[in-house]
Amino acid sequence: MAEKLLEISHLKQYFNIGRPNQVKAVDDVSFDIYKGETLGLVGESGCGKSTTGRSIIRLYNATSGQVLFNGENVHGKKSKSELKKFNRKMQMIFQDPYASLNPRMTVADIIAEGIDIHGLAKTKKERMERVYQLLETVGLNKEHANRYPHEFSGGQRQRIGIARALAVEPEFIIADEPISALDVSIQAQVVNLMKQLQREKGLTYLFIAHDLSMVKYISDRIGVMYFGKLVELASAEDLYKNPMHPYTKSLLSAIPLPDPESERTRHRIMYDPGMHNYNDNEKVEMREISPGHFVYCSDKEFEQYKGQYKK
Ligand SMILES: Nc1ncnc2c1ncn2[C@@H]1O[C@H](COP(=O)(O)OP(=O)(O)O)[C@@H](O)[C@H]1O
Ligand SMILES: [Mg+2]
Repeated sequence: MAEKLLEISHLKQYFNIGRPNQVKAVDDVSFDIYKGETLGLVGESGCGKSTTGRSIIRLYNATSGQVLFNGENVHGKKSKSELKKFNRKMQMIFQDPYASLNPRMTVADIIAEGIDIHGLAKTKKERMERVYQLLETVGLNKEHANRYPHEFSGGQRQRIGIARALAVEPEFIIADEPISALDVSIQAQVVNLMKQLQREKGLTYLFIAHDLSMVKYISDRIGVMYFGKLVELASAEDLYKNPMHPYTKSLLSAIPLPDPESERTRHRIMYDPGMHNYNDNEKVEMREISPGHFVYCSDKEFEQYKGQYKK
């Protein structure tokens, strides 16, 4: 079994939006992320994917729950140097590469920000050499260093965002819908770059997306979120072959099919959360339907799902 890099247990992130209203953005979510893997996290807009990512790397103080990184507690009281250490090991790439890059900074300064904070270059020359190297790593070049974000295309900006994340040599990167804002023709390029970097640097990814189309291609395992809960978690292959939770089935049925004949007859499955009709004394939790494949369900549903599972 692969080594665990992150262990997320019973993570809750509630937001108070004026009493008595509370948004349970992440509501008791548990999963592990293994070293060197890509874990895809999918679900419709507003289901809590970004909040999960942000809570993991402590952009928010979690309402409750635990996050271990290499066995060390990420949350709780931390000294400045401990925080700095975590910040270096965990980086984030954002959906909108334009909003996340300071328009008044040159590409070199954007990329070197982490290098400066963490003192990773001793001289100005070394700093610039690192920047040039990083630009090359992400498929840009030296000439781009003194330009500003607006001079680049969306795909190039996302490459700058990736270079900025890589600058501090992280182990773990949360990519929050990194390709959602890009033209379809550019999406594959960015995903391929991420895959290549993962192989070269042994990176671990949490890859967030709102649909299942690109996620299968990049993910080793996929987690499906619905309304603050993780409802299914499985290897990418098994999730597509054996979707158990009705919400997963509905997400899968939303993917357009390349074959026109199949696309014409594609049956879109709608999910109605009311269908579960759980009563108060039923225990609803993640249950393991086959090794490594978990589905959020009651005991009764679990028995039904077992009957549907294709070996
Ligand atoms: N800072 C915040 N304050 C209040 N509510 C928030 C905040 N961030 C997210 N939410 C709410 O939490 C829920 C999950 O949001 P988010 O994690 O952004 O979903 P996703 O990334 O899956 O689209 C949404 O209902 C959203 O409105
Ligand atoms: Mg989001």
